[in-house]
Amino acid sequence: MFYKKLLKWYDQKKRNLPWRHDRDPYKVWISEIMLQQTQVKTAVPYFNKWMQKYPNLKALKNANYDDLLKMWEGLGYYSRCKNIYSAAQIIDKSFPKTYEDLIKLPGIGDYTAKTILAIAYKEKYVGIDTNLERIGYRQLGLKTKSKRNQKRVAMFLEKNQSSSRPGDFNEALMDLGSSLCKASTTFCNQCPLSTSCKAFESSSPTKYPHPKVSIKIPIFDIAVAVIKFENRILISKRDNTKFLTGLWEFPGGKIEKKESAEKAIIREVKEETNLFIKAPTYLGSVQHQYSHFGVNIALFISFPKSIRSLSVKQDYKWVYLKDIDKYALPKANHKMLDIIKKLD
Ligand code: ADE
Repeated sequence: MFYKKLLKWYDQKKRNLPWRHDRDPYKVWISEIMLQQTQVKTAVPYFNKWMQKYPNLKALKNANYDDLLKMWEGLGYYSRCKNIYSAAQIIDKSFPKTYEDLIKLPGIGDYTAKTILAIAYKEKYVGIDTNLERIGYRQLGLKTKSKRNQKRVAMFLEKNQSSSRPGDFNEALMDLGSSLCKASTTFCNQCPLSTSCKAFESSSPTKYPHPKVSIKIPIFDIAVAVIKFENRILISKRDNTKFLTGLWEFPGGKIEKKESAEKAIIREVKEETNLFIKAPTYLGSVQHQYSHFGVNIALFISFPKSIRSLSVKQDYKWVYLKDIDKYALPKANHKMLDIIKKLD
């Protein structure tokens, strides 16, 4: 069951964030407004300071607007602060409890209203921000962004929503989207939802939904392998290549038309190293755009029992993960390292 798997993961991995300590609607509201255009790590100290000075609606109603603005200084998008102040004047004694009343308040749109209702009032709503949207597109295997697909995503998430823990369901998807199911890097082997994910099935989840590219540049589908032997990883130096010459990389190469990512990596590793890797494990995917081309990489790991047959034409090295930062690697490889480092 979708929500059971998700919530089990959330119970183990959820981030300890100050607005999660209780479900006071006032606190949920302020945190959601702060998080609308601001990253979690930036918002945390602002939220804590705010709650020290304005711990409840009453304190906020009596606040001086210039003091509020001072507190907001550095967070950006100052209209959010103005909207909070105006909303506080409109709100009667108690915080609104329905979608219709919430959406009337300045600064509260569809996403924020639904998220507040789910988190603070345990109402069965799903607020769809970019993280939840991406997860929905991937689960359903939808590539093209459109109103119709947006509706499908909303219906899918609403259908799978948890009745007993709707707020946690929303926040679990937010956490999943910011840790494992990121826009250009996915950590599929750790994802609780991979078994139902159509994008995972395709081995190129970062293609879902289609990133908007303004200029047309070629995008290559590539399979890459981390080959680990006696705790060290094989890297080789690119030479005689058009791009990224002299940089170090993991073995791999282009996936042929109609070839699966797994077949491609077995073939590429054999061609480049003369090693036969049996049943490599798919770890996740990475997408990156260089100046003249983009790559869409399926990352595998393999632990060969023996490397007796190894034969590499280029300069190569076996390195410990802790030493790998000493080598110059292309940017896409740094994203792969994020995945690899999470394994240890
Ligand atoms: N982004 C928006 N709302 C959030 C929340 N409640 N927790 C973490 N990230 C968020």
